[in-house]
Amino acid sequence: MKQNLGVKNWMFPMPVLMIGTYNEDCTPNAMVAAWGGITLEDEITICIDTSHKTWANIAARKAFTVAFGTANAVKACDYLGIASGNKTPDKVKKSGLTVIKSEFVDAPVINELPLVLECKLVSMKEENCNVTGKIVNCGVEESAMTDGKPDAGKMKPVCYDTCGHFYRLMGDVVAPAFSCGKELM
Ligand SMILES: Cc1cc2nc3c(=O)[nH]c(=O)nc-3n(C[C@H](O)[C@H](O)[C@H](O)COP(=O)(O)O)c2cc1C
Repeated sequence: MKQNLGVKNWMFPMPVLMIGTYNEDCTPNAMVAAWGGITLEDEITICIDTSHKTWANIAARKAFTVAFGTANAVKACDYLGIASGNKTPDKVKKSGLTVIKSEFVDAPVINELPLVLECKLVSMKEENCNVTGKIVNCGVEESAMTDGKPDAGKMKPVCYDTCGHFYRLMGDVVAPAFSCGKELM
């Protein structure tokens, strides 16, 4: 029997999105966002608190990148989610991660994270913190691909467990989508 717990925003899984931007002086910045997802075929929307350095950076440069946190880089990713560029402008350097400039947008790409979505700003809404970007490129490390597509088994992306406050490894394949239910048709 279910217990009614009232209004909760508990969703499983939450992503661990690493939002990359540049500060005014071109120092790279990055933060973690779990509140975000794909909203159109080539569009992503993320809820970014307006007090974060990332918000100001996106407003200034009209661009950002979205990489996915991985098990291999989990400590560095978490650090970027607890330190702010407002107080620590060189926090990416302190995290131990390295970056290169995106070829497509005015934002940094984190070398150690295998998949990145490079985005141009579409809109920013202060009332609900929603930042929407158009995806203009997806970059993937060759070592994290199988048959020309990103392979989650190789990438080892983590998701955020919002109830336990843990990062969890994305799990095993249990069945093929759009087909395992066909036998019930
Ligand atoms: C697991 C996790 C999830 C987070 N999700 C969000 C989020 O969805 N939106 C947000 O605004 N901040 C989120 N944060 C907090 C920011 O990452 C954090 O405040 C960061 O220091 C902001 O960095 P900045 O000021 O350099 O932009 C999250 C942090 C963690 C650790």
